[in-house]
Amino acid sequence: MPTKTPGSSARNFLPEQRDLESLKIASQHCKGCDLYLRGTQTVFGEGRKSSAILFVGEQPGDQEDLAGKPFVGPAGRLLDACMEEAGIDRNAAYVTNVVKHFKWEPRGKRRIHKKPSVREVTACRPWLDAEIKAVRPKMIVCLGATAAQSLLGSSFRVTLHRGEAMEVAGYPPIVATVHPSSILRARTDEDRDRERALFVADLANVAKTLAKLVRRRD
Ligand code: URA
Ligand code: SF4
Repeated sequence: MPTKTPGSSARNFLPEQRDLESLKIASQHCKGCDLYLRGTQTVFGEGRKSSAILFVGEQPGDQEDLAGKPFVGPAGRLLDACMEEAGIDRNAAYVTNVVKHFKWEPRGKRRIHKKPSVREVTACRPWLDAEIKAVRPKMIVCLGATAAQSLLGSSFRVTLHRGEAMEVAGYPPIVATVHPSSILRARTDEDRDRERALFVADLANVAKTLAKLVRRRD
């Protein structure tokens, strides 16, 4: 048995069986970084085993932390609506996060989201890689800079390359776009509508590229 040293990496907590169900169960006991002390529970990814698209967010938010499910709060509802508009079936998508515990700071009675550190993202990465191996998606969509930089490198800029299909050895094409939370934070209705339309357009392009990839392999 490997020694389970808390605070180093999720690597030591991965089960021998790497199917989604076994991974999800084992992830509940992860102490790969200190975030397990702060979150209510591990929020593992969700979706069908052979989903064509795998969406990666940053980390669970307040509602996800309590529900134990990814993207069930305001950002998740927006993601669902935009996916539908873009013609992506939520049932054909696996949805997860780079970091599986909610990192937060108290502000009054509220728990305010705090960006995970590079160390925490790195520590949690074995779970994401195991999910990608188990699901074998045809495309990966990174939502926001944390996910994009984890998969595409720390110098990747979503603003410069949003919507482009990037090639990384050992992975299917990876597309990065904004995080739905950034749309919710827009200052004016006009900004929000514009950002939302751009996001839906990025997802519609993903759907189109995916259709081509599937056709090519048939
Ligand atoms: N934001 C994320 O990045 N992931 C979630 O699951 C919810 C909000
Ligand atoms: Fe493990 Fe990831 Fe949670 Fe850290 S954030 S304890 S590495 S599941």
